[in-house]
Amino acid sequence: MRIPLIAGNWKMHKTVHDAVFFAKEFRGLVKDLTGVDIVIAPAFPAVHAVAEALRASNVAVAAQDVYWEREGAFTGEVSAPMLADAGAEYVILGHSERRTLFGDTNATVNRKLHAAVASGLTPIVCVGETLAQRDAGETLVVLDRQVKESLDGVTGEQLSTMVLAYEPVWAIGTGRNATPDQAAEAHTHIRQRLRQWFGIDSAEQCHIVYGGSVKPDNIRPLATHIDVDGALVGGASLEVRGFADLVRKVIA
Ligand code: 13P
Repeated sequence: MRIPLIAGNWKMHKTVHDAVFFAKEFRGLVKDLTGVDIVIAPAFPAVHAVAEALRASNVAVAAQDVYWEREGAFTGEVSAPMLADAGAEYVILGHSERRTLFGDTNATVNRKLHAAVASGLTPIVCVGETLAQRDAGETLVVLDRQVKESLDGVTGEQLSTMVLAYEPVWAIGTGRNATPDQAAEAHTHIRQRLRQWFGIDSAEQCHIVYGGSVKPDNIRPLATHIDVDGALVGGASLEVRGFADLVRKVIA
C-alpha cells in the first residue's frame, strides 16, 4: 500500500549555508517519524550539500528540474546523471512555474522524465489547471492531456514508482488551497485514468500528491482522502519547525 509522501519544494530560496542549516535541524525533528516518505527539493547549488547533510536519515533530496541530455554543449543545463551523482533521488518535472515562465511543455516534460528514469531518479510530475480552465469546466480534460502526454512511453512498472503532483495553478502561492472535495475529485479522476492506461496494480502503487497552499492547518483535511497520497509543499516548507510539524500532521 502507498504511504504518504511529503515533499518540500523550496523553489528559488536558500543559499547553500541556509539549506544545510535547515537540513541538519530538520533531520533531527523528523527522525522518529515512520510511515511517511519525506523529500526536500533545494535549488541546484545546494543539492549536493543537502544530500550530504541528510545522509543516513529518513529524508531524501529532489532536484527541481533536469535536462534530458546526459552531457554536452547545453549551457546552463543540468543532467540526470549529474543530479544522481550529487545525491538526488527525486526530480520535480513540469512544475507550473516552469511551464509558464520557462517554456516547459508536456513533450519536454516527457523527455526529461525518461532521462530521469534512466538515471534512477524518481520523477515527481506536476499537472494542474489554470483558473480560466477550471472556470470553463475544462479541468479534467486538461489533466487528461497533461498526464497522458507527460507519461508517454512509460511502462506500468515504471509508473508504479512515480509520483504525480496535482497542483491547480490558481492554488499555488495564493493562500487559496483547493477544497478537499476539489482535490479528491481530481485525484480520483487521475487514478482512474492511470488504471485505464497502465493497469490496476501500477495505478494503485503510483503516488498522487496535492500541491497548492498546503499548510500545517489544512494538510489533514486535504490528505485524508484515499486518493490523496500526501503533498508537494512550497512556502510552508521553508521554515524548519513548521515543515516538520506539517509532516507530523499527515501521519497523526
Ligand atoms: P505553495 O505551497 O507555496 O502554494 O506552492 C506550491 C507549489 O508550487 C509546490 O510545488
